[in-house]
Amino acid sequence: MKIGVLTSGGDAPGMNAAIRSIAVVGASRGHQVLGIRDGYAGLLAGRTLELDPDSIEGITRQGGTILGSSRCLEMMDAPGQDKAMTRVAELGLEGLVVIGGNGSLTGAHKLAARGGPLRIVGLPASIDNDIGHAGLAIGVDTAVNTIVNACDNISDTARAHRRAFIVEVMGRNCGFLAMRAGIAAEADAILYGEASLDEDQVVERVREVLRRSFAKGRAKKRALIVKSEGLAMPVATLKKRLQAHLDEDAPGVDIRETVLGHVVRGGDPSALDRTLSLRLGFASILALEAGFADVMLGWEPPFGVGRETVDPSVRMIELKDVLEETARLLDGTSPVIKRRIEMLKAVEAALPG
Ligand code: F6P
Repeated sequence: MKIGVLTSGGDAPGMNAAIRSIAVVGASRGHQVLGIRDGYAGLLAGRTLELDPDSIEGITRQGGTILGSSRCLEMMDAPGQDKAMTRVAELGLEGLVVIGGNGSLTGAHKLAARGGPLRIVGLPASIDNDIGHAGLAIGVDTAVNTIVNACDNISDTARAHRRAFIVEVMGRNCGFLAMRAGIAAEADAILYGEASLDEDQVVERVREVLRRSFAKGRAKKRALIVKSEGLAMPVATLKKRLQAHLDEDAPGVDIRETVLGHVVRGGDPSALDRTLSLRLGFASILALEAGFADVMLGWEPPFGVGRETVDPSVRMIELKDVLEETARLLDGTSPVIKRRIEMLKAVEAALPG
């Protein structure tokens, strides 16, 4: 087969590992694998890159994506999709692997819905972990590790000065990164949009944490508040409102804020991200060979949804089901979100801060 691979949307550490796996496994099984540059924008423009396994040696350990990425609005409409199908035919592609998040997989589903001989397999990649049935998407583990390292560094200096810190992390509308990293970094409070608290409730919750953390007689030296960007309240507003009560809540304590921003998205992928990306890439070639189209491969998705593959940790799910579950994750009706919130509440109840 002639197989195209593209990376789309926000890049995620591990994308390169997946690209290498697809190129190497594809070549070893007699396929021609062609890289498509800059996501769907590159597909529409017909920009490609030869993926000779020798020339891409060493990319498994690199963050970002050697193919480049884009958020391509043109692909959302029928004329853009028509153009994409024309390019696919011109390039002679029989298979396409799309590595990306919600928007990218929506594009893949739309192309697959046009029927025809093109087989499309999606691989979930987004540090936000907001893709339905993805389990752990490519890039999430590295992002969590980056946040934990940053929080550890901040905690060192916070303890030296007996300070409170608010650390804002990426994640778009999904609080997963804040939750997972916050627990590992011993955060005293984790703030996420899914809790649906208004600004007054958020302030009250953090004030209570500060009062308890710095109560007279306690030896505790820092309070760490990890805030997801999905909680709409700007971090500066939160800090200002807390500061107005600091003399009363935590006399002598200062409060600082750090927004980690795109630091969270870069960096060399963790061993887990490399492993799952390589294995998802391997499974994608086998799925294309077996004739599947309009599916995504997920790494140990919750509740064991989907169909078994050659890899016990990789499951295959219809893209339609993926997109429906993604919508439920984002509107909070998915059982996965309910379980996360319950777990967070149990953690909060156990914390002394
Ligand atoms: O979806 C990944 C992500 O990094 C989000 O966490 C963040 O909100 C967004 O992308 C940032 O997008 P951009 O790089 O376009 O500013």
